[in-house]
Amino acid sequence: MANLFPRWTNILPLKLALFAGFVATTVVMGFAYYGTPKATRVGYMPDQPVPFSHALHVGQLGMDCRYCHTNVERSGHSNIPSAESCWTCHGHIKSDSPKLASVREAVETGEPIQWVKVHEAPDYVYFNHAAHVNSGISCVACHGRVDEMEVVYHAEPHSMAWCLECHRSPEDHLRPIEEVTNLGWTVADHPEVIVDGVPQRLTQRELGEMLRSQWRVQPPESCGACHR
Ligand code: HEC
Ligand code: HEC
Ligand code: HEC
Ligand code: HEC
Ligand code: HEC
Repeated sequence: MANLFPRWTNILPLKLALFAGFVATTVVMGFAYYGTPKATRVGYMPDQPVPFSHALHVGQLGMDCRYCHTNVERSGHSNIPSAESCWTCHGHIKSDSPKLASVREAVETGEPIQWVKVHEAPDYVYFNHAAHVNSGISCVACHGRVDEMEVVYHAEPHSMAWCLECHRSPEDHLRPIEEVTNLGWTVADHPEVIVDGVPQRLTQRELGEMLRSQWRVQPPESCGACHR
């Protein structure tokens, strides 16, 4: 039987598929950029198995984030502390408190506490804590005033547009490395610097621009940096 269609139409389905793929990607990208779940994600505050308060442990007792989140400046992942690390204190302090029942149980059985994740980047996003914390970006830029939270909630959208906003102008956030876990720090706490022999107070932008050029900070904007 003779061919009803000319030969070139053999690749038509392929072309159509490619075009449909292109349209779909564009739509998805547009949605990711403009339609991110800002409204639903910000404020997300799941119930936790233990009423652990950052406001008490950090805000009042003055504990540093790295006492518990020990890996945050060393690896991509910021760990949640084990029940044993709570027990170094709570073995002596309030050991019998009903609020610590799940911690006690975890220490006795060796089963970890089932904390509910608050922040979670999708699988197709690459994120690294150490790369940020060691470049002078404070926890507060991405998690808000955790030191004042009784219960941790999602304070920032963590959308692609949000990541890129800072990648385009990191100077609005850069601070001395030793202040990254000091969430209440502002540029007003920074000592005066001598400019042309005159002591001066810097604005956040001036300090940020200075640190940016000193450290040669250049956050990536290419797709492959965050989608590997
Ligand atoms: C005494 C230990 C301890 C200290 C100190 C501590 N944290 Fe935590 N952090 C925890 C525990 C336990 C959880 C899990 C339970 C929860 O979400 O409250 C947690 C959860 C978090 C989360 C949410 C994790 C998620 O599921 O997405 C963030 C963000 C966080 N901490 C940031 C900080 C910051 C910033 C500091 C310092 C200002 C800090 N933490 C200090 C123990 C600690
Ligand atoms: C450096 C010591 C220290 C560590 C480590 C520590 N805590 Fe505490 N925690 C305290 C102190 C002090 C209090 C306040 C006790 C009081 O009110 O008298 C407290 C209070 C609490 C309370 C309230 C208890 C009650 O009955 O009012 C909970 C719950 C709690 N901690 C959970 C945790 C968890 C979970 C961890 C581990 C992630 C942890 N703590 C790690 C020192 C610590
Ligand atoms: C540039 C933004 C940014 C900074 C700065 C940052 N975080 Fe995060 N954090 C994130 C993102 C994004 C996630 C979700 C990561 C994931 O799911 O892989 C996260 C997750 C976490 C978690 C939960 C990890 C888990 O697996 O449950 C903890 C705890 C945490 N951060 C603590 C901190 C602490 C403490 C600091 C400061 C020392 C800090 N973060 C600084 C963006 C940031
Ligand atoms: C508040 C500012 C800020 C936010 C928000 C932020 N970043 Fe960054 N990011 C930086 C800075 C600063 C660097 C370091 C650049 C350098 O050292 O040159 C960086 C570097 C990176 C790198 C390269 C480092 C590496 O490990 O390869 C990746 C990837 C990255 N960020 C992903 C993300 C993602 C994903 C998000 C959103 C979930 C995000 N960032 C949000 C400031 C930010
Ligand atoms: C600085 C980090 C970063 C860069 C650079 C980046 N992205 Fe993203 N992208 C993200 C994050 C984070 C998300 C997840 C957003 C969310 O969960 O709300 C995302 C989501 C997406 C999605 C949405 C997928 C879905 O299922 O909704 C697409 C598509 C995407 N990115 C494509 C791109 C392309 C194309 C580029 C290059 C032009 C790019 N991204 C550059 C961080 C980045």
